[in-house]
Amino acid sequence: MASTKPQDAVALLKADHRTVEELFEQFQSAKGDGRKEKLAQQICLELSVHAAIEEEIFYPACEGKVEEDLLKESYVEHDAAKVLIAEIAAGAGADDEFFDAKVKVLQEEIEHHVEEEEKRLEGLFAQAKKADLDMDALGEQLAMRKQELTETYKATGIPKPELKTMEDVQV
Ligand SMILES: [Fe+2]
Ligand SMILES: [Fe+2]
Repeated sequence: MASTKPQDAVALLKADHRTVEELFEQFQSAKGDGRKEKLAQQICLELSVHAAIEEEIFYPACEGKVEEDLLKESYVEHDAAKVLIAEIAAGAGADDEFFDAKVKVLQEEIEHHVEEEEKRLEGLFAQAKKADLDMDALGEQLAMRKQELTETYKATGIPKPELKTMEDVQV
């Protein structure tokens, strides 16, 4: 549901994290293949949009303002998750014997990544907050792009993810 209240960049990205965590929890207790597949698709949609807006808007804004290694790791973690997202979104459904395992491993990867972003004091968001970034303006940009991408992906399906840090693999 679209919120009309403007959020600063970090608040918006954290709210996305909570949404996805909730969906993973629902998935873990879901009964029935149809319900699980629907939740898995929703997880992929949310994560694809979230990764895209971070990579297009938030991470570039952090460039030069946060620890370079941490930022690089974030891109690599996104790419690693995209492999599973691509697999699940393309139809790794409940009749795939590895379906539950794929969703579970994706959840674990995302939990780790979210922790790196949200860690108190030294996490990516904490470092970004200390830097001289216009979080309100960034939040507005993120919200606009999020809405746009969500509508597109809902209409045309989740596109094959683009890997930013890996050249020798294809998804
Ligand atoms: Fe994030
Ligand atoms: Fe991220």
